[in-house]
Amino acid sequence: MIRKFDRKQLKNRMKPKVYLTRRLPSAVMERLIRETELIWNQGDRVTSRAEIINGLRDCEGLVCTINEQIDAEVLDSAKRLLVVANFGVGFNHIDVTAATARKILVTNTPDVLTDATADLAFALLLAAARRLGEGERLVRGGKWTGWEPLQMLGTDVSGATLGVIGFGRIGRAVARRAQGFDMRVLYWNRTRLTDAEEEAAGPRYANLEQLLREADFISIHVAYDKSTHHLIGATQMELMKPTAFLINTSRGPVIDESALIEALQTGRIAGAGLDVYEREPMLTAGLVQLENVVLAPHLGSATLGTRTKMGMIAVDNLLAACAGNRPPNCVNG
Ligand code: DGY
Repeated sequence: MIRKFDRKQLKNRMKPKVYLTRRLPSAVMERLIRETELIWNQGDRVTSRAEIINGLRDCEGLVCTINEQIDAEVLDSAKRLLVVANFGVGFNHIDVTAATARKILVTNTPDVLTDATADLAFALLLAAARRLGEGERLVRGGKWTGWEPLQMLGTDVSGATLGVIGFGRIGRAVARRAQGFDMRVLYWNRTRLTDAEEEAAGPRYANLEQLLREADFISIHVAYDKSTHHLIGATQMELMKPTAFLINTSRGPVIDESALIEALQTGRIAGAGLDVYEREPMLTAGLVQLENVVLAPHLGSATLGTRTKMGMIAVDNLLAACAGNRPPNCVNG
């Protein structure tokens, strides 16, 4: 699948013309500058929709991030566009159906961010269970008066039950980490693993209701689309133990944020650890005032090593598509 008229255009051009919406790690920038005719936002700030539409006009490639909505209007402004290479695994900000209809390839960067994201999910789980956010605020606020036998008692992680919602690469990596904490792991996934796969992976399948009722910690790892919008809302939180914690490193709108705030305010559940939000970077009113939630600014894949690998994969995808080949991580149907 490639736009026909562009084949000729590419033969005549030495390097593809590429629009990059945000500065990426330096090794990736060096490669992009070397191997493409690059236009980018040198101020390293969020690129406006108008800037993208204007900048993309003559480009064959777009490298974008989660912050930009790439919809039919943006795609229509780029008559030569062959590929949208997303810097990230989740691509719910790109209208893939509209891209496919225009024969534009869309790619993502799976695998390389699995471990970093699973680490962050576990960091949030531990921080929420052991009240690290509250503890930090106490110490930094100069309000700590010394050790106390009953101060800031948390929840044991070792030996507890973890429920993993969405058992793809990242969900499985979180389950592996939980085994190191002697946790019992349940998983729920749209498609259940085969008996042999379950045997190899370790965790037991539970339906969503059973998982919500039994788990002490619930970690969410589903992709976001219409079917997972508010997958966890008031009804699901009603099923959770009042001592349970909810961890989300997938996409914000998988959880009904208002329902979560109410559940945390009323003690319906014990706590939460969030890396993603319904309307990033805005937070629903009431969230920041809560002591029993740990809040991170969408850091799942944020290590230099991981972001560099993500960038290199995005460039591999981009260059393959511009050379008329099917890129390794194409997400069009
Ligand atoms: C991803 O890869 O989807 C991360 O959430 C951000 O890019």
